[in-house]
Amino acid sequence: MNINYTLLTRQLEGLLEDESDLLANSANLVGLLFAEIPHINWLGIYVLRGNELVLGPFQGNPACVRIPLGQGVCGTAAQRMESILVENVHNFDGHISCDPASVSEVVVPLVSAGKVIGVLDIDSPQQGRFTADDQHGLELVCERFVQLLEKRRTDLEEFI
Ligand code: SME
Repeated sequence: MNINYTLLTRQLEGLLEDESDLLANSANLVGLLFAEIPHINWLGIYVLRGNELVLGPFQGNPACVRIPLGQGVCGTAAQRMESILVENVHNFDGHISCDPASVSEVVVPLVSAGKVIGVLDIDSPQQGRFTADDQHGLELVCERFVQLLEKRRTDLEEFI
């Protein structure tokens, strides 16, 4: 199923443009995406604190709280500063299994002023749930999300 990521970005702008609280805005990003992306079982933000990613707003089962930079899909995407699409997590060396139901995954780093400030992590119980179009669309949504946060605060290190 194709998702209109441009429309999702517009919806995000509508939700965030009048609100200055970064926690509320992060929670609404997660709520919007979880409601609009079908066939997923977990979606959330990890925030970079020092050398580890720490669990932020999410939808789904309780998850691992701390992920060191360079570990798992999230820590690898953050370290490489590039998004990662995983068709089957069982084939990803070092994948951190929080929910045994998760089979495929996409992780997009949140980048501000050339530095990673966190990641968006989305898991699905279906193998190969995410396409390159999803990956690209989510990169655009995350880029816009960071721009909207930057309007409220210039230094986004540990933004929540
Ligand atoms: N899948 C992640 C861990 C986080 S959970 O899936 C919520 C990873 O390997 O980085």
